[in-house]
Amino acid sequence: MKVTVVGAGAVGASCAEYIAIKNFASEVVLVDIKEGFAEGKAMDLMQCASLNGFDTKITGVTNDYTKTAGSDVAVITSGIPRKPGMTREELIGINAGIVKTVTENLLKNSPNVIVIVVSNPMDTMAYLVHKATNIPKNRIIGMGGALDSARFKYRLAEALDCPSSDVDGMVIGGHSDTGMVPLIDKAVRNSVPVSEFLSAERMSEIVEATKVGGATLTGLLGTSAWYAPGAAVSELVRAIAQDSKKIFPCSALVEGEYGLNGLSIGVPCVLGANGIEKIVEIELNAAEKAKLTESAEGVKKTNALLDS
Ligand code: NAI
Repeated sequence: MKVTVVGAGAVGASCAEYIAIKNFASEVVLVDIKEGFAEGKAMDLMQCASLNGFDTKITGVTNDYTKTAGSDVAVITSGIPRKPGMTREELIGINAGIVKTVTENLLKNSPNVIVIVVSNPMDTMAYLVHKATNIPKNRIIGMGGALDSARFKYRLAEALDCPSSDVDGMVIGGHSDTGMVPLIDKAVRNSVPVSEFLSAERMSEIVEATKVGGATLTGLLGTSAWYAPGAAVSELVRAIAQDSKKIFPCSALVEGEYGLNGLSIGVPCVLGANGIEKIVEIELNAAEKAKLTESAEGVKKTNALLDS
């Protein structure tokens, strides 16, 4: 499998590193607009090959999309990240132009590529790719829910004082501080509902900490996070590479699912060789449904900014 990662910054480089370490792709091409930057990151990463024991070939190019030709998957991380106090929505002006140009360049060289959108505001950037291209909807995947769910599981494991691998939980909805819907009533520890172990107050604290997970890190780091975002992307790419049919919450174009239409938003998706192979409609309780509907309204408001 050949993977292109556009944007060799914090998230793009982390994503390339995890893909290489997991050793499922033959080739990763890093692309950046900054002269020499992707080449430097690729060289640094390749010098880890003998240390970390991977065979993936990583190369870097400055804006030369001919080198991305024949990519099976392209990850778009190019754009600006938020600074402390900023919302993801404030990035729309600059990032929309970048995402549109990058997608056009990718398609010229890899017409059948599956695109994973990471740049923020991610749901709106994924929707922009739907609007600006004729890529079938199964081949446009927004990454947000996989990261938010990992952050949810981190908070659950912390509260339960157990390993993260013992807990399961999912975050659906928009990838924003107000739009995320952590499905706390469905979260489990070794198949047992977490409500067996945690008070209602503790559960709502976990939900709130999850929703501001990105902002908390931005406050600490001065810029947005990269390890977990990179790892989350690498898991989506792996599901496609290995045709695993694993379920991840991804931003997908909804056409009636969950009663929603005309936007890209986080919903559980089966990922395989064809990208999003199915949107899974899990049973939501009334509160969860109401939160998802409200989240969709928020995403639509941000989408409307694309036309302004
Ligand atoms: P960064 O600033 O470290 O890297 C961005 C890179 O994109 C830079 O190296 C820049 O030179 C490059 N770039 C800018 N315009 C370009 C163009 N036209 N073509 C190619 N490369 C270009 O930023 P970071 O931290 O890697 O974040 C990237 C994006 O990902 C941001 O929009 C951030 O908000 C978003 N993000 C999304 C997450 C998600 O869960 N969806 C999680 C974390 C970050």
